[in-house]
Parts: sequence; structure tokens; C-alpha cells
Amino acid sequence: MDRHPPQVPRTHASRGRSPGLRAGLAVILLSVAGSLCAQAILEGERHHPEQGRKGMVVTSHDLATDAALEVLKNDGNAVDAAVTAGFVLAVVQPRSGNIGGGGFMLFAPGDGGPVEAIDYREKAPAAATETMFQDNDGNAVPNRSRFTHLASGVPGTVAGLALALERHGTLSLPEALAPAIRLARDGFIVPARFTEGLEQARDRLQRWPASRATFYREDGSPWPPGERFRQPELAATLQRIADQGTRGFYEGKTARLIVEEMQRNDGLITAADLKDYQPSIRKPVRGTYRGYEVFSMSPPSSGGTHILQILNILEHYPLAELGHNAADTLHYMAEAMKLAYADRSKFLGDTDFVDVPLDGLLDKAYAAELRKNISVDKTRPASELQPGNPNAFESPETTHYSIVDRRGNAVSNTYTINFSYGSGITVTGAGFLLNNEMDDFSAKPGEPNAFGLIGGEANKVEPGKRMLSSMSPTVVRKNGRNFLVTGSPGGSRIITTTLQVILNVIDHNMNIQSAVDAPRMHHQWLPDAIFIEQGFSPDTLRLLEDRGHTVKTTNAMGAIQSVLIGEDGTLYGGADPRRSTSSAKGY
Ligand code: DON
Repeated sequence: MDRHPPQVPRTHASRGRSPGLRAGLAVILLSVAGSLCAQAILEGERHHPEQGRKGMVVTSHDLATDAALEVLKNDGNAVDAAVTAGFVLAVVQPRSGNIGGGGFMLFAPGDGGPVEAIDYREKAPAAATETMFQDNDGNAVPNRSRFTHLASGVPGTVAGLALALERHGTLSLPEALAPAIRLARDGFIVPARFTEGLEQARDRLQRWPASRATFYREDGSPWPPGERFRQPELAATLQRIADQGTRGFYEGKTARLIVEEMQRNDGLITAADLKDYQPSIRKPVRGTYRGYEVFSMSPPSSGGTHILQILNILEHYPLAELGHNAADTLHYMAEAMKLAYADRSKFLGDTDFVDVPLDGLLDKAYAAELRKNISVDKTRPASELQPGNPNAFESPETTHYSIVDRRGNAVSNTYTINFSYGSGITVTGAGFLLNNEMDDFSAKPGEPNAFGLIGGEANKVEPGKRMLSSMSPTVVRKNGRNFLVTGSPGGSRIITTTLQVILNVIDHNMNIQSAVDAPRMHHQWLPDAIFIEQGFSPDTLRLLEDRGHTVKTTNAMGAIQSVLIGEDGTLYGGADPRRSTSSAKGY
């Protein structure tokens, strides 16, 4: 799983500044020529974000960035570019790019018009039941919701991207699919990260003959860096979408292959589940922070709600004065995060099925009430802290990309198959991986999911329901205009990662690249510890421990891809060095 990638923040392997420095080449360069020399060259660029005047694309893969930027240069808009990038990532980054999963897209028009959210999260199949992930004694069976055919929700990506294009795009679906089809059919040169990922997931994927045949060579080894990797079955699957629209996925041959895959392996997804799948247009959650407007994903994601809740709590503290990653600042952040994640465990779920007290959770008065629980000099143990009462105030891979076009239109998109390579199961004959998103439901109330997140009744499994997410595509506006476009993978850490980039920009006045690079912390109520990346001062950590915090160092958290729009309209891209294939390119 890539939620604990064996990487720490490091220099940029591919910043996409020079057209010649393609991801594969850059990675080979790093390993062959020795990292010291390459790092020295790249270090010099570290805190200068990629700039452009007319368009900016920031994704986790150079080939997706290139394809989307090409669309912008040909006068396509941000949604055209985003849909193109989504399909390309499904080809070049199978660990998270997908057509077998789902996600959320925020579209923020450049003229300041209403921000729209497209919810294309997977849904539980009609035959799903509340206890399907429990044994006869009522105990949760984690492997069932993670590594079997029962783990998959009905995929939403194809319908979601097609809907975005239909509502806001100018390209046809075949045009938006063309680069992806070409890369699947003709292949692409694999970067080291591609090989490393498949090596790590080898046992999990090779349990399934179709996954082995699709992603590995005959001797069972992954394609090494520098070799060309082709996916003819995936090319044909994508071509059917180009030829027949969404029906080319949700009906016809691809649907039949999915259903046969399910029937052979006791899965639940039926032809009717596929045919019935519809994405939803939602109103994003909206809040304010120090005069900025923050729009982010509403339920069935918890992400936007809790980013706003934490911002509401923190707004009271002079974070800029206290200092970036200073002990006081980190203490307040941790205490605020704990309160929000405790509420998440109880109140959040799919609003098509349960009432979520959103108005209360987002209310600044509720934040003020919660703030009374925060002491300056002592942490409050998680065990003493329970979900609050917002009703009283009723008034581990995923990938994110951010795109802005020359009219200032912004797209913030996060989509996923949950773990790296999802369930590990490839649809036989169709060449794509299925999600294991059902693990994001609560197998039973109080039981943690793979990310240690506790869920309640509100997030129990129900037929047709969407499982709770943390994905937080976010757009911040200043004086009514798009200002910051951001979001991240990272499971439970998505919320805190996205939050910290907002704080780094607004409170700590960092440029977007520095805001993305800066070492991050995370607290999710349970387990009761502050998780930190490398790069914090030991003195600071001692001060936190003095206040009663448990501090644990962890691997890199999140991979946030962001665009910032300067006052004069200059676009600044910040790609996350925590993923070696990340790239920001503008023109
Ligand atoms: O929707 C969610 O919150 C999770 N399924 C996301 C998983 C994730 O980010 C894994 N990646 N790093």
C-alpha cells in the first residue's frame, strides 16, 4: 500500500521545468548517474515554483501533466484537461489512476461563478448488507473488505469524467480519451516508481491470473525502468468508451466482463448495478478563513467538512506569530484535528442515506465551543475526548491533480481505487484494476478501517450507499476569485495534508512550492499520537512531549498537487516531491 511509502520528503526528481527532463529519464538519470549530482542540480530549483501565465497543470505523473497541458495549449479548458489527465493516469499510473474506482471533482469557474462538485464516488452494490464484512460471531473480517471481489464498490470514474466533460468541457469524449488510448496501445517508458510499486505489490497482485498477465512479464517480474509497457486490453476497454460513451463501460462487453469476473468469484456487482450507476452534482461545503473563502468536498466525503471545522478552530490563534511548525502551532493544530476526527467517527456518512449535522459542524460558534476544550500547555488525551454535539449549533493510493486554464477556470480532482492497486484484482479481459473502496465503510460501528479511521452507524454498509471518504479537492478564493487549487491522496491524512498547505500559504506566507514541500504532521484522534514526517526540530518535539503529546515519526504523508494564482494572474504550480513522478508544468 502506498499509504506508507518508503520515502521521505526529498528533492524533486521531476519538476517538469525542462521539456527534455521527462519523468522516466529523470528517474533513470537519478539512479544511474548517482543521486548526489542530480540532487545538486535540482536543489537549486527547490523553492521556485513552476510558473505560467496561461495554464498550469500539476499531477502525480509527468505523462498526465503533458497530455493535459497539450489540451490547454490547444485552447481546451480546465475540465477538458482534467478529464484527459484522469484517463491518462488510468493508463500510466495503475496504482491509483483508474477507471475501476471513483472520486470527486471540484470545478470553480474563473469568473467567480458558483463552485460545483461532481461526486463520482463508488456505490455499494444492491446486494450489499450491513454485516457483509463480519464473521458469524460479529467480528470484522478486514481481508474480506480489502482483497476479495466483495471489496469493490460500483465504479464511478467513467461516468464522473464523462459528466464533467458534458457539463463544462469543449472536447468530445473520444478526443479526451485519445491520449490515454494511445499510451495504452503503443505503451510508455516506465519510470522507476512504476517498477518499484509493482515489485512491492507482487504477491498481492499475482494471486489473480489477470493481474499477473496484465502487469508482469512472463517470468513474473515487473517491467524494469526504461522499458516500454503496453496494455492492449485496457486500450480496447477505453476504445469502447470512446465509441459508445459511458454505455461502452456500464453496458455491453466491459460490463459483461465485470459481471463475469464477479460471478466467478462470489462478488456482488451485477449488470443492473452498473447500468444504474449515476454520479451526483453536489454543492461543495463552503467556509471562510481569515478573509479567504474555502470550498471543498461535501459528504460523502468527510474531507471538506473537517478541513473547514479545523480552520474554524484555528482561526482564533495567531499562527503566523507563533511560527510555522513551532511547538505552540503544532499543539493547537493537533488539538483541533483530534476534535474534528472524533466528530468524523460519529456523524459523517452519505447524506443520501443519513442526516449529517453539516450546519453545526461548519458553524464558527460550534468551533468556539470546541476550542474551550483546548488548553495552552497540556494535551487532552484522546480517551477523554468524545464526539461533540454539533446538532446544538444547527443554524493508505489515491491521486490528486490541480489544473487552471487561461480563463482562470480551476479543477481540483481527487480519485482513487483506495489502496495502491485497489483490491489487486484485474477484470479478466478488460485490463483494469478494481477498487477496494468497500473498506471505507464501517465493517461494524467502532471498528477501524485500513487507515485506522473509526466509523459509526452513519457509515454502515447499505445497498446503493456511498462509503465515507476523506478526499478533499479544495479551491480557495480571495476577493471572489480563484486563488489556491489543492488536494492530496493519503487516506486519513488527506484532510490534514490539505489543511497544512492552506495554513502554509495563508498564515505562513509561503510560496506554493515551499508550502507543498514543508514537513507535515497529522493527528486523527485515534491512535492518540502526533505523526510527523522527518524534518522537525528535536527541540520542538521535546516541547510537545512536555505537554503530554506522544510523537511518532512516520514516512512521507500525502502527495499534494497545487496551483496558486497570483494577484497579477501569474500561475504558480507546486508538485509534491514525495512522489518521484510528480510534475508541475505551465505555459
Ligand atoms: O476515500 C478515501 O478517503 C480513501 N479511500 C482514500 C485512500 C487513499 O488516499 C490512499 N492513498 N494514499
